[in-house]
Amino acid sequence: MSDTKEEYWDFIWNQPDLPEKIKFAFSVKNFDKQKILDILKKENKKTICDAGCGFGMYALYFAKYGFQVSGFDVSQKAVTAAQKILQENNFLFDSFVVSSITDIHFKDHRFDAVFSNSVLDHMMLCDAQKGIAELERITKEDGIIYLSFDILDEEDERLPHEILPDGSYQYTQGNRSGMILYPHTEESVREFVKGHEILFMDCSNGQIEVIYRNR
Ligand SMILES: C[S@@+](CC[C@H](N)C(=O)[O-])C[C@H]1O[C@@H](n2cnc3c(N)ncnc32)[C@H](O)[C@@H]1O
Repeated sequence: MSDTKEEYWDFIWNQPDLPEKIKFAFSVKNFDKQKILDILKKENKKTICDAGCGFGMYALYFAKYGFQVSGFDVSQKAVTAAQKILQENNFLFDSFVVSSITDIHFKDHRFDAVFSNSVLDHMMLCDAQKGIAELERITKEDGIIYLSFDILDEEDERLPHEILPDGSYQYTQGNRSGMILYPHTEESVREFVKGHEILFMDCSNGQIEVIYRNR
């Protein structure tokens, strides 16, 4: 077990109104990750792992665009929801498992690409470092890694939280109680990927996004 609050995520992914929320998300959300899609297509990548897949929003898009999709999440409820959404939409998928990103149950160099949207920012810095090492382990040499980190907004700053010794915010009340958010910056993300070839980096959409080559 990791210390990244799987109870919190199980609670989130087990709410009774989740199916309606998922339906709503798909009705309003267009695919907003064109850059990674272009890179994967250009490089003829076929297999992708959605790391911290949640209810499978991006896994579904990657399946739709013809990739062989696998995934994992620390929450069993999320993994079940992701498998269900892929099945309901008649997409074939590879393996979806319950795993922490700090100890991923996939073998070394299994995937052409790994995609992790808004996951590594929900844990303490030391876990995010372990997570990145694990993502690199399961990605083929020369494979592609996509990471994104939410930039904290006014609400993130305002809601009641404690600041942990490494600078992470741990929320203490309401429906975020137990959630961790680390205030990443372009510099902290550049530090994570130091020494790798960065193919794309953008900080203009409320997120820090980076795509790099695993070499
Ligand atoms: C903000 S949600 C993002 C979900 C999905 N990637 C998306 O963009 O729709 C964060 C996800 O990270 C998962 N998560 C949190 N800590 C994790 C860990 N240590 N290992 C794997 N997944 C984790 C949560 O269960 C949740 O599904």
